[in-house]
Amino acid sequence: MATQPIRIGALASGNGSNLQAILDACGRAEISGEVALVLSNNPDAFALERARRAGVPARCIDHRHYSDRETFDRELVAALQQAQVDLVVLAGFMRRLTPAFVDAFEGRIMNIHPSLLPAFPGLHVQRQALEYGVRLAGCTVHFVDNGLDTGPIILQAAVPVLEDDNEESLSARILEQEHRIYPRAIQLFAQGRLRLEGRRVRLLDSASQASTALIHPPLTP
Ligand code: GRF
Repeated sequence: MATQPIRIGALASGNGSNLQAILDACGRAEISGEVALVLSNNPDAFALERARRAGVPARCIDHRHYSDRETFDRELVAALQQAQVDLVVLAGFMRRLTPAFVDAFEGRIMNIHPSLLPAFPGLHVQRQALEYGVRLAGCTVHFVDNGLDTGPIILQAAVPVLEDDNEESLSARILEQEHRIYPRAIQLFAQGRLRLEGRRVRLLDSASQASTALIHPPLTP
């Protein structure tokens, strides 16, 4: 299948390890495209530094300088449109987006969330998963709609919750999988292999449907 290189706009508020995974995947041609612009609402975000190190244009648009969410969002939209991005990826972006943003890039915004949605939307979800006592945790890449972590699901990875896990150890295990599935989801988009049908995202031209069940604790002693 012919693959068109895409221009990616990334929004990040913090460390940017997912952004790094995406930059690295572009560098290895595992994503047919390039990160054309990185925006952050936080001037101290390490994500901005990662972008600069990779030679990618990066800019802080500080939400505190805007009177309301919509005006801030319109500024983000203008910057992303100017950079002619095909896809917007949220990579640890800690601001809720208004319809002014979501509607401008409808069907072209992805997010990564550190739970198996629809379980545990919102914040501090690794802690919530531990407190709830789930045996399997994980992460989800989904398209963004106007709800909170409610958009159509593209890819998920499950990890076991171990007996002596704390929030930090579980988050690290989930993050490792985030770095694998986010670039993959972006590549599927770049290849034109994701088709939205209602709530479902169909994967086109998939050679294999095979996957392994993850049972935890294991059935064998
Ligand atoms: C990740 O856990 C991601 O799932 C969530 O925010 C965190 C961002 O981490 N949305 P990083 O900035 O990519 O390292």
